[in-house]
Amino acid sequence: MRTARIAPSVLAADFGRLRDQIVLAESGGADWIHVDVMDGHFVPNLSFGAPVIKAIRAATKLPVDVHLMVTAPEKYIAEYADLGANVFTFHPEATTHVQRQLAAIRDRGMKAGLALNPGTPLSAIDEVVADLDLVLVMSVNPGFGGQGYWGPATDKVARIKALLDVRRSGAVIEIDGGITARTIAAPFLAGCDMFVAGTSVFGQPDPAGAIAGLKAACPAGTPA
Ligand code: DX5
Ligand code: ZN
Repeated sequence: MRTARIAPSVLAADFGRLRDQIVLAESGGADWIHVDVMDGHFVPNLSFGAPVIKAIRAATKLPVDVHLMVTAPEKYIAEYADLGANVFTFHPEATTHVQRQLAAIRDRGMKAGLALNPGTPLSAIDEVVADLDLVLVMSVNPGFGGQGYWGPATDKVARIKALLDVRRSGAVIEIDGGITARTIAAPFLAGCDMFVAGTSVFGQPDPAGAIAGLKAACPAGTPA
């Protein structure tokens, strides 16, 4: 039986109590910790980089899921691997040699992910399915937390699921942006397994309870 897995995004956390917030998320059943790195160039916002990843790594044993919204993400592969990141996801538009970077990420012992913006077609992953451990479907245009869910992302999840099944890929499908207890069921039923949630976890008075609420909002009894 399938269950939804949740990757709370620290972008929405209170940075003054970052460790406490991560411990709270872990106690609430978080599966991964999602870390949004933005450079103010690939996306119109700046967030944080290596020092914050280091602090997050020290605060949890959960997998650290780094989502790079930066130009030339290859500059950070070695550094983030050394810091203990477990998943390294970048956008195909942000670099020239996508397959080379995916291989380099795996060589460094991390899971390799590609993120697809709402306007990015599935063809961006077609030639590199064998190099992928994860496909991150963006259900908002990246750059900011707290945006509304982009509805067509649900159908995109279904098409990616079909593509991965045909190619016998075990890559995880993750979705990111506008995930709440009201929006999570549709992409779950379409085949998504990992859900990034910022505002709907850390923006709530009870982040641990919010994680349980997200999981409970996915219909039970869904076959694998
Ligand atoms: C958006 C980031 C997201 C963001 C999600 O560019 O990639 O991970 O933190 O925030 P919510 O869940 O609030 O949409
Ligand atoms: Zn993200």
